[in-house]
Amino acid sequence: MPVKKVLRMGEPDLLQESQAVTDFNTTFLEELLSDMWDTMHAENGAGLAAPQIGVNLRVVIFGFEDNPRYPDAPDIPTTVLINPKISLLTDETEENWEGCLSVPGLRAMVPRYTHIRYSGYNEKGEPFTRDVTGFHARVVQHECDHLDGILYPQRVTDMKSFGFRDELEKNGLLVAQPCDD
Ligand code: NI
Repeated sequence: MPVKKVLRMGEPDLLQESQAVTDFNTTFLEELLSDMWDTMHAENGAGLAAPQIGVNLRVVIFGFEDNPRYPDAPDIPTTVLINPKISLLTDETEENWEGCLSVPGLRAMVPRYTHIRYSGYNEKGEPFTRDVTGFHARVVQHECDHLDGILYPQRVTDMKSFGFRDELEKNGLLVAQPCDD
């Protein structure tokens, strides 16, 4: 399956609200997910949302297992999440660095809720729910934002943190990260 071009900020399709998936177990969905995994891996991302490859459906993928280059990065199970719903399990937020394959080369500090419950459907159309914290919760909030046409720069509260990854790293503000998204 081909690696798709990732749309970049400035492309209006990234700002659309995406549509719910109504048909599971279709060749279309299977090929979409295959393209998304191939694209995410080719771009070394932590997650990808369907609108980023130009498909405005409520489908996200994320997760990675132990990357030998970054043994301290937390594992997140590889997950297909379709028609997601997020509920907050805390009012608490924390700031941490984010990047996005649609905003290449840049990083900023983004506040996210620290403890969430998410539910949705896997690739077979089976429902599931998880309670998660920390980086896992952050990745899910970032990817699900894409389905509502929101890119992380819209969430940045301290624009002074917004910068180019290589400059931030060179200046000791950002520690080298395992993923580009
Ligand atoms: Ni993103």
